[in-house]
Amino acid sequence: MNPMKTISARAQALEASLIRTVAEAGMTQGDVLPLWFGEGAWPTNSLIVEAAVASLQAGNHKYQPNNGAMNLRMALSAYSNNLLGCQLTPEQITVTPSGMQGLMLAAELLVTPGDRVVALEPGWPNIAGCFKAQGAVAETLSLSVQDGRWVLDIDALLAALTPDTKAVLINSPNNPTGWTMTAVDQQRVLAHCRQHGIWIVADDVYSRLYRHAQYAPSFLALAEPEDRVISVNSFSKSWSMTGWRLGWMVAPAVCETKLGQLTEFNTCSTPGFIQDAGVVALQAGDAEVAQLQRKIQTGYAITAQELSNFSRVAFIEPDGAFYSFFRVDGLSDSLTAAKTIMQETKVGLAPGIAFGAEGEGYLRLCYAQPEEVLERAFKQLAPFLS
Ligand SMILES: Cc1ncc(COP(=O)(O)O)c(C=O)c1O
Repeated sequence: MNPMKTISARAQALEASLIRTVAEAGMTQGDVLPLWFGEGAWPTNSLIVEAAVASLQAGNHKYQPNNGAMNLRMALSAYSNNLLGCQLTPEQITVTPSGMQGLMLAAELLVTPGDRVVALEPGWPNIAGCFKAQGAVAETLSLSVQDGRWVLDIDALLAALTPDTKAVLINSPNNPTGWTMTAVDQQRVLAHCRQHGIWIVADDVYSRLYRHAQYAPSFLALAEPEDRVISVNSFSKSWSMTGWRLGWMVAPAVCETKLGQLTEFNTCSTPGFIQDAGVVALQAGDAEVAQLQRKIQTGYAITAQELSNFSRVAFIEPDGAFYSFFRVDGLSDSLTAAKTIMQETKVGLAPGIAFGAEGEGYLRLCYAQPEEVLERAFKQLAPFLS
């Protein structure tokens, strides 16, 4: 008998990430410019690397507290409070081995099978994916393009957030579009969710990669400590640490024990030497993040300029993150197109359909790359985009 017939219905229902479908075919080829994933090309700052090495050499080899080492929790609450003017306590912080794990812990904390959640589309599929894997029914609300910008109809969102909704999942700045929710809209969503007892799960991993200020508008700056708000964040993007797997969650302090117990049954804890490196990353502070912001700004400028050369391409200005999510006239099957582009132009892009049906006809390009790589990529892409 086929063993797969007896695995859980939830595991059977999982869908492959279409970003990976394209990327894993190309990763073995070696000569493809990798603009498919959400990661910068640059290595982690050597101070952070040295902190991890020193921590290992000093003997930090053991299990850690479920909710994270207290020095990192304190450093993270101070970091958030300085940046956002909020008053988080370390009890509200749980350290997680990645933002991805933070999303899954949020889903495990909140979802009873059958619960309704509302997500935005186009959107990174893993966010709703975690909630679906826990048995939630995910409905999506679409962003749309108006006057060359992505917008969300807030009245439509509030109408979708009915009292029987368990959670709304808001990734802002958004992967893939760069759309970013304004503080005024966040205030409206928060007031509505307070009234109806709906959780807000804010995926804030791109919060420092906002093109108009140091930090994108945040629910944490508006929420009271007892509000049903969970923020998921990560060291991956802002500190170029995707491979380290280090993130954190902010949740009401009353959730601390349950988040610790859930961590116990997932990973037990985040490695101590990685957490020590996280403390140093926060100490390296804004200078480190600002350097990355500048590089990303350059990548954005090149991408905007280059894409404007192609009349088939509708470039939509992102407010944050580090992607261009562009529509190509006449493109109706983005998965096949991304595979063809990879084979013929040797540039790896993510297909728009990976981000939901609303993304069909689009391609996503990560511009967190050095100038010369982007220039080469656009030269190689030219025959396809012309
Ligand atoms: C919107 C969003 N959330 C969360 C993550 C997870 O980041 P990590 O697991 O590397 O911390 C990503 C990574 O691409 C992302 O795009």
